[in-house]
Amino acid sequence: MTKCIEVNRNEAEHIRRELISLNLLDNNYAPKAEDDGIYFPVKGQFRNFKLVEKKLKERAPGVFSLEDSLRSKLTPEEFGLIVKSFDVIGDIAIVEIPKKLEKKEKLIAASLLSVHRNVKSVFKKLGPMEGVYRTRKLKFLAGERKTVTEYKENNCRFRLDVTKVYFTPRLSFERKRIAEQVKPGERILALFAGVGPFPIVIVKMQPQVKIHAVELNPDAFKYMEENIRLNRMQEAIIPILGDVKDIIPKRFVNSADRILMPLPKGAEKFLGEAFLAARKNCIIHFYQFASEQNPFEDTERFITKEAMISGRKAEVIAKRVVRPFAPGVVQVVLDFRVK
Ligand SMILES: C[S@@+](CC[C@H](N)C(=O)[O-])C[C@H]1O[C@@H](n2cnc3c(N)ncnc32)[C@H](O)[C@@H]1O
Repeated sequence: MTKCIEVNRNEAEHIRRELISLNLLDNNYAPKAEDDGIYFPVKGQFRNFKLVEKKLKERAPGVFSLEDSLRSKLTPEEFGLIVKSFDVIGDIAIVEIPKKLEKKEKLIAASLLSVHRNVKSVFKKLGPMEGVYRTRKLKFLAGERKTVTEYKENNCRFRLDVTKVYFTPRLSFERKRIAEQVKPGERILALFAGVGPFPIVIVKMQPQVKIHAVELNPDAFKYMEENIRLNRMQEAIIPILGDVKDIIPKRFVNSADRILMPLPKGAEKFLGEAFLAARKNCIIHFYQFASEQNPFEDTERFITKEAMISGRKAEVIAKRVVRPFAPGVVQVVLDFRVK
């Protein structure tokens, strides 16, 4: 018997990719389709999925995980240094290579290409996400020398350039969680919209809404326009190029039933604009980085303070740790209602 999770068929592909990138897919066994679901063999807990025991077929020898493939090519010391999780965005993999393994980076990238057939290009992170646009410098390591890819999630398609815009597959569950709450007729402000993943997933699940999506990075804005067309959502989503600080006071005072603020580093500086745009009973989804020890305290303080300044009341209705971000640091979301 093997440890598995059961996944809905229409979510199977993006969950398979997420499991691979988190190094949680157990490649010794083949996934199994049954009725409506697919059972994926896993090495450990994945999100809050229930672990079940299932009899799965062992894979034929020769199908290896990245770790298996590297074990014989690296010394035990080098092997201990590899960062096992990596991001796969469409057919581009983005890996982290510790300094001490730099001489082996091409070999690691080539192994990744040979193990994961859906990956066509491998890049290495050269640093953290930085700047106002939250982009990251990357170095090409192996495969096709291209930076534009198409990523699929929640039955939506996203084209993007991994060197010019922010994008992470690790928020797919969060996008779905929010989309499931949206009611017909809502007027939504998607601030810090990037290439459009939050608004597009929302409209896929709830087409009867109007979303204004504001983004400052001209490259991300261009891809958001393209993605809105690609998913045929021109009626529902209106992309706006500009700064939230300028756009909200000019065009969106007292206008929104729901506001998304996925800018974990610095969103507190825009809470004043969010309160300004909020109609009575508006729900705001507010993201922050926080200490793992005390994940919600500072974030709640920001909300209470800004509510007071704006002469409004805020009632927190949900709080959640979205994902680990760095050692001791997590990304959190607080959903609150504005009175
Ligand atoms: C962390 S990314 C999130 C992007 C997108 N929501 C996603 O989940 O992929 C934050 C985005 O906010 C944009 N941004 C930063 N400051 C902004 C501002 N003042 N007004 C509008 N957009 C801004 C950045 O360019 C970046 O694309």
